[in-house]
Amino acid sequence: MPSPLSIDSLRLQEQIDALAAISEAPPPVVTRVLFSEADLRGRASVKELCRQAGLLLQEDAIGNLFARWQGKDAQLAPIATGSHIDAIPNAGRYDGVVGVLGALEAIRALKQGGFEPLRTIELIVFTAEEPTRFGIGCIGSRLLSGALPPERAAALFDTDGQTLEQWRNKAGYGARPLNSVRLARGVYEGFVELHIEQGPLLERENLPIGVVEKIAGPSTLRVQLTGVGGHAGAVLMPERHDALLAGAEIALAVEQAALNTGSADTVATTGVFRIEPGAVNSVPCRACLEIDLRDTQLSTRDAALQRVEKAVPEICRRRGIDFRVERLNVDAPVLCDPAMVSTILEVCREVKLPAKQMISRAYHDSLFMAQICPTTMIFIPCRGGVSHRPDEYSSPEQISNGVLVLAHTLARLSCVSSKRHDRERIGSLQPVIT
Ligand code: GLV
Ligand code: MN
Ligand code: MN
Repeated sequence: MPSPLSIDSLRLQEQIDALAAISEAPPPVVTRVLFSEADLRGRASVKELCRQAGLLLQEDAIGNLFARWQGKDAQLAPIATGSHIDAIPNAGRYDGVVGVLGALEAIRALKQGGFEPLRTIELIVFTAEEPTRFGIGCIGSRLLSGALPPERAAALFDTDGQTLEQWRNKAGYGARPLNSVRLARGVYEGFVELHIEQGPLLERENLPIGVVEKIAGPSTLRVQLTGVGGHAGAVLMPERHDALLAGAEIALAVEQAALNTGSADTVATTGVFRIEPGAVNSVPCRACLEIDLRDTQLSTRDAALQRVEKAVPEICRRRGIDFRVERLNVDAPVLCDPAMVSTILEVCREVKLPAKQMISRAYHDSLFMAQICPTTMIFIPCRGGVSHRPDEYSSPEQISNGVLVLAHTLARLSCVSSKRHDRERIGSLQPVIT
């Protein structure tokens, strides 16, 4: 165990702030939607930091970045860590970024402490953890784990009808096919993601660290409604087929579906509600809703999902509205690896940071990494449990605690030499050239 390790929280905070300044919106708002100019500039700046830290960089065909600190035994499967740097509209500066720049700081601290890994330590920066552009999150880790078939990914389209294939070509990742992204089970010995909690429990209980045992299962529906538009003055009320009103009833049915499961763990949100033509004196003729429904238990989540899917035709028939319902993603909750959870709890005891075992209600790339290797997450508190807002905040000290625990965890896991793995990737990577 490399001890003592010194985390440079000032340097880390400067890097977090510098990345936050790369945004599609003025500060304090951070918006970095997949393959936007800001996302591409953010990626370039992270690559530069990784290079300065002496890591070997590779990228795959969706833009997942792999920054490698070569271990002494190249036959051993690497230990991976990482998160994402894309940010939803009107976001803050810590979601995902703490798990990327924090992991980089953990690696720098280990290097500066003279530690030499036996296993390679690999930092992964996943593409499109956030669902903003294509309605589905974790595109990079879904492709990497095989959870998203490449043909389905290629056909995803945004609100302007541009496909993922077109976007990744524009972003410079089009040279190789998407089916080269998938990695074999066993490529990694394990994956651990550092992240802000995005909930209030650690702060409330005054605890510096959470260790994640389970990640709730997300699902997303897209509902497209077509009614009949017309003049707001001329079309009388009995004649109307207003797409917005059908959508409004559906959004209320979504709320009821979550409330009626009897489980406090079911949460449902209609986070997208677009109408056309969007003129005050015109009856809305079209509406598009995107509905996010999650639970820690598959049975209650699926029951709520089915209720919503049953409500849509009922509401639309009554209102004379055409509808289309698509399941964008329906994912099961995952259990984290108990041995990795124990390792992190041990580390916390050693570095004297009290820790709590907890559930992640947000989804993360870890949900998909768990399909190919033992996985868990380290949580740190965030003020008021606030996330996905510009006022998201974790203090330098809280971040530094998480980085310290991550560094010690990586050090431990990179020293275990018991198992040997097949390191062949199904896909292929290419060096980052700038
Ligand atoms: C991740 O950003 C989520 O929505 O849980
Ligand atoms: Mn997020
Ligand atoms: Mn995140």
